[in-house]
Amino acid sequence: MTTAVIGATGRVGSEIVGGVLARGGAVTALVRDPGKARLAFGEPGGLHIRPTRLDDPRDLTEAFDGIRTVFIAMGSTGIEGVLQRIAINAAARIPSIEQVTRLSVLNTSADSLGINQRAHYSIDQFASSTAVPYSTIRPAIFSASLLAAAPEVRASRTWTGLAGSGRMALIDHRDVAEAGLRVLTDPALWGAHHDLTGPAPMSWPEALELLSAELSEPVSFRVAAERQFLERLTGAGVPAGTAELLITREWAILAGENDYTTGTFQQITGRPPRPVAEFLHDYRAEFV
Ligand SMILES: NC(=O)c1ccc[n+]([C@@H]2O[C@H](COP(=O)([O-])OP(=O)(O)OC[C@H]3O[C@@H](n4cnc5c(N)ncnc54)[C@H](OP(=O)(O)O)[C@@H]3O)[C@@H](O)[C@H]2O)c1
Repeated sequence: MTTAVIGATGRVGSEIVGGVLARGGAVTALVRDPGKARLAFGEPGGLHIRPTRLDDPRDLTEAFDGIRTVFIAMGSTGIEGVLQRIAINAAARIPSIEQVTRLSVLNTSADSLGINQRAHYSIDQFASSTAVPYSTIRPAIFSASLLAAAPEVRASRTWTGLAGSGRMALIDHRDVAEAGLRVLTDPALWGAHHDLTGPAPMSWPEALELLSAELSEPVSFRVAAERQFLERLTGAGVPAGTAELLITREWAILAGENDYTTGTFQQITGRPPRPVAEFLHDYRAEFV
């Protein structure tokens, strides 16, 4: 039987598609833009790219016909949060579906300062109400979040943000996908939430010290006033909802919500998570 992937063209979803195919599994990628998906994946055996209206329960029900497992990797707020709920509700009614595994976030709770954390909590509550067979991975902030700094780093060897202090154990999105694939494919890991972190907590300024070492040039963090930070984000074309999410992410970092590690990645995969320095080395070209 087949795995359906929602958010298949995204950073984590695309790695899940590749991972299932590499294991010899079959994937149906439910996408809104089949051309983008074909560009990303080509036409490998085992992959069915299916244009799907995530806001149409009937279309979803047809798409889920014969599906055994589902992976969902998309945003938690706004329309994406609504579409996740519609997909979960449809999946709950398909007898062949044995597990829905969803990409969530560390510190998922009703009380987090982070909007993303609260939104993922409410999606979990919804999933629970449908009784869908369900698991999540809850990763820390991705190392790939540092790519948002790339244009400013290229221009001025600085990165402007709010959280000049407060640590988080940044995790490589490739590790997130690897752990997600294990959860998706190992029934022993089903029915639980898996809190994933990178190897060591660090602040944004400390992450930039690693980038400085990679580039052999100093890169420094500049703390902005909140209003100024908002204007920088929206001025760069970041949608208002995403800017709000990023600002509250900084609040949560400053409050120390993310200052810990878990051993879950190692337990699930049998190896330690990649260091942030490895991510920065692999993505060095983005910063020069
Ligand atoms: N960034 C972090 O630091 C971090 C940390 C922990 C957890 N997370 C979680 O990771 C999730 C994001 O994962 P990601 O980085 O893999 O996402 P991403 O790269 O932004 O991919 C999002 C996917 O969702 C699809 N999508 C978005 N809006 C859609 C719509 N209206 N209709 C249909 N499809 C839509 C996109 O399709 P298109 O390709 O067609 O746009 C894409 O396939 C979030 O829930 C976040 O909470 C992120």
